[in-house]
Amino acid sequence: MVKINPDRLLSDLRTLRTFGTYKTGVHRPTYSDIDMQSRRWLVERMTDASLTATIDGIGNVIGRSPAPGPKLLLGSHVETQPHGGWLDGAMGVIFAIEMARAVAEDPALQDCGVDAAAWADEEGHYMSFIGSRSFIGDVTEAEIDGVESKHDGTPLRDALASAGLAGLPRAVLEADRYLGFLEAHIEQGPTLESMAQKIGVVTSIVGTWQYEIIAEGIQNHAGTTAMSLRRDAGRALIKLAHAIDQHFPEIAAERSVWTVGDLRLEPGAPAIVPGRARMLFQFRDADPRQLARFAAAFDDLVAAVAADDPCSITAKQLSASTPSLMHPGFQDALSAAAEQHVPGLHQRMPSGAGHDAQILANVMPAGMMFIPSIGGISHHWSEDSDEADIVIGGQVLATAVGDILAKGRA
Ligand code: GLV
Ligand code: MN
Ligand code: MN
Repeated sequence: MVKINPDRLLSDLRTLRTFGTYKTGVHRPTYSDIDMQSRRWLVERMTDASLTATIDGIGNVIGRSPAPGPKLLLGSHVETQPHGGWLDGAMGVIFAIEMARAVAEDPALQDCGVDAAAWADEEGHYMSFIGSRSFIGDVTEAEIDGVESKHDGTPLRDALASAGLAGLPRAVLEADRYLGFLEAHIEQGPTLESMAQKIGVVTSIVGTWQYEIIAEGIQNHAGTTAMSLRRDAGRALIKLAHAIDQHFPEIAAERSVWTVGDLRLEPGAPAIVPGRARMLFQFRDADPRQLARFAAAFDDLVAAVAADDPCSITAKQLSASTPSLMHPGFQDALSAAAEQHVPGLHQRMPSGAGHDAQILANVMPAGMMFIPSIGGISHHWSEDSDEADIVIGGQVLATAVGDILAKGRA
């Protein structure tokens, strides 16, 4: 059986937490100085694990095993949400490195190997999943030219140049190198904890569609501009948000979710009628037909609010990820490993969060495993998991990795 070294795994995870510490969480936006420092540190850790490691032209850190036989690709992401948690993504990357080390140390698997990856910008500071999408050949240079920061509008090209990545080649998947891709992650929700379970074996991952909506009105004095004469861009988008919340429940499926994640009024002062407003909106579901239903309803609502408001309203789709199913054989391997280490304390479950595994699933078998999140909190600096659960998760993943690699020889 492939055996992890819990102290080594936890030590690396704690070190990664120091890059961009914010309270008990981490602030590490993609391509920021601290993010790039963490990527360079990962290159060192991967090299120390006998992998050949590089940072590619989109910021992916990829460590390749020299093993001649069957190989798995493992990984996740290292950038965090703004003032986010220390484990979202980071745990899966450190697990990948630990799996590479543990497989290399297993006398029964000397011909087998694990490649480790930290994909760039899963969290979508610029473009969700751009690193894993680039790796599977799904990102053109023209797309990179058109992307900018959701926070401050910095062009992605400028961010790549400041990060020292301009002109570097982008890594591309080598055909037939891998048996498949595995990603470990914290659950980011309350299910496992509330059922006192230790491992979630992911069955499917939701698709997420994101939009930027801009309203243009006329900035004016909030005391002297009569209500009937206003072109209030803030009010236009608040009306739209309200219309979405009124209508979406009527067409939603059981696990559908939707969120207005940002609403900015310009210039943003109590005595000024906002002349411009911007809203970021997303919805999620595991069924592509439901996503299409929401998209059509959203377009209709934008048109209806715009028709009835003196401001102009335009909506642009920022991203549209596809839902995906996890590979049944990998689900079985993870469930069997969980049954071995924590009998009866595991379950299969869908993922309401997006993950790089859904991108890799387009080109190879992919599987995912969750460990419990304390209080179900994530995308917040207080996100946490019990270290004992992290270690259990690492050992379950190692057992599944060993099983899949051994079978991959056949
Ligand atoms: C990924 O972090 C997501 O927002 O689902
Ligand atoms: Mn996240
Ligand atoms: Mn994540």
